[in-house]
Amino acid sequence: MPVTIKSPREIELMRQAGKILAKVHEALGKELKPGMSTLDIDRLGEDMIRSFGCEPSFKNYQGYPASICVSVNEEVVHGIPSKDRILAEGDIVSLDAGVIYRGYHSDAARTHGIGEISDEARLLIERTRQSFFVGMQYAAAGHHLHEISKAIGDYAESFGYGVVRDLCGHGIGSHLHEEPEIPNFRQFRRGIKLRPGMTLAVEPMINLGAADVVWMDDDWTVVTEDMSLSAHYENTILITEGGPEILTLTDAEIAEGIWQKQGSEERKH
Ligand code: CO
Repeated sequence: MPVTIKSPREIELMRQAGKILAKVHEALGKELKPGMSTLDIDRLGEDMIRSFGCEPSFKNYQGYPASICVSVNEEVVHGIPSKDRILAEGDIVSLDAGVIYRGYHSDAARTHGIGEISDEARLLIERTRQSFFVGMQYAAAGHHLHEISKAIGDYAESFGYGVVRDLCGHGIGSHLHEEPEIPNFRQFRRGIKLRPGMTLAVEPMINLGAADVVWMDDDWTVVTEDMSLSAHYENTILITEGGPEILTLTDAEIAEGIWQKQGSEERKH
């Protein structure tokens, strides 16, 4: 299937899907505390998604059994919520969620610290988020897709982190996963030319140690092979003639001005 260009009507629905998902992430982030189970997070998230009149897009996707992927510490992505997995002070937890609003998907992930976390964990989370925004400097019509990939990967590797090779971002729209695949590291080819109306889920997954990951026996949970911590940051974006429109930023991130800050950095060059 080719990369699709969304119509103004589709773009509006994706904006709505994005806004709702941002609210879900913002609310879930505030609920996290030591002692809660990863299943508690899934229940809260699913209820919230449905209360907005949306469907949780991950539920039953290729057999995935929950609405929110909850991945703790060395788990990279696709952790399966469980009543027996209890969050503790010092853990880091990646929440990945998707919603379907009137047939259109949004997909976003955030990594949070539980209570006090180590400096190395905090920096990993911050730099993983920052790698996304570094990539966004190339997420505009006329650039090539792999300029985003290279920018993300080079930034993360500059800290000695391992950039996960085995999982990628993706196009998104009326399906959760559409063309193109979006790697988070330098490619040999330059990739497709970006055009206004493309909608993409860009999602760096960055390890404190080596890049290698393995799949657990549940066939879902991806963990770092060396058991080092891993962070994930994902947004659904719209390509325009100018910079990207980031559809899943939380109100806190908008207030913080993270994307505007990045824009002004770029203008200085
Ligand atoms: Co995704």
